[in-house]
Amino acid sequence: MYKLIAFDAYGTLFDVYSVGQLADELFPGHGQALVLMWRERQIEYTRLVTMSDPNPAGSKYYLSFWDLTVRSLRYVCKRMHLNLSSESENRLMSQYAKLTAFDDGETVLKTIKDRGLATAILSNGDREMLAKVVDSSGLKPYLDKLVTIEEVRLFKTAPQAYELLLKAFPVQKKEILFVSSNAWDALAAKWYGFDVFWVNRLGHPFEEIGDQPDYQGASLSEVLKAL
Ligand code: LAC
Repeated sequence: MYKLIAFDAYGTLFDVYSVGQLADELFPGHGQALVLMWRERQIEYTRLVTMSDPNPAGSKYYLSFWDLTVRSLRYVCKRMHLNLSSESENRLMSQYAKLTAFDDGETVLKTIKDRGLATAILSNGDREMLAKVVDSSGLKPYLDKLVTIEEVRLFKTAPQAYELLLKAFPVQKKEILFVSSNAWDALAAKWYGFDVFWVNRLGHPFEEIGDQPDYQGASLSEVLKAL
């Protein structure tokens, strides 16, 4: 039934909290709080940029996801009264460029490919940062395309971001299964018209608005049950 299985990148295939250990080495006792706030601020900036100028030709406030990630790190360190030296910033960002992939991702992607289905990433990440993280994680051979919102300069959850999958592959909306661990991303993709699988690793509740996801599971491996 599905022809394309498309994955969100950050949080879904790659563990954004895997920088926590380094963050804690640099700022003892604050690593955990820092990475949580960092992620929240990063996503908040994507929304601010997109909603403040939702122009189909792209937001005039657009900055790459990499840039927003650096700037949200700087913001959060200031907010937490942590002194972020350029060396610490470089170390954290170098690690961000090579985030750890979740263990089961490779097998899942490989199995999907073996079944003759197409695979892709659809991410807020810009092309360069996506290429790096996909390369360093070894997932590259199992992904047909890396689709980035850089092309529309509007971040998820703008419909133009999800629409990119329909432009990148000769498939209909209903032939796409979109996989995300971010509930807001899964909900927006559902609103856009995709079937969605929500990877709920932490046993969180789903959003209190909109429809429930079509599928959910505690790991990427469970995505295979939906095929
Ligand atoms: C992404 C963000 C949502 O990869 O993590 O698009």
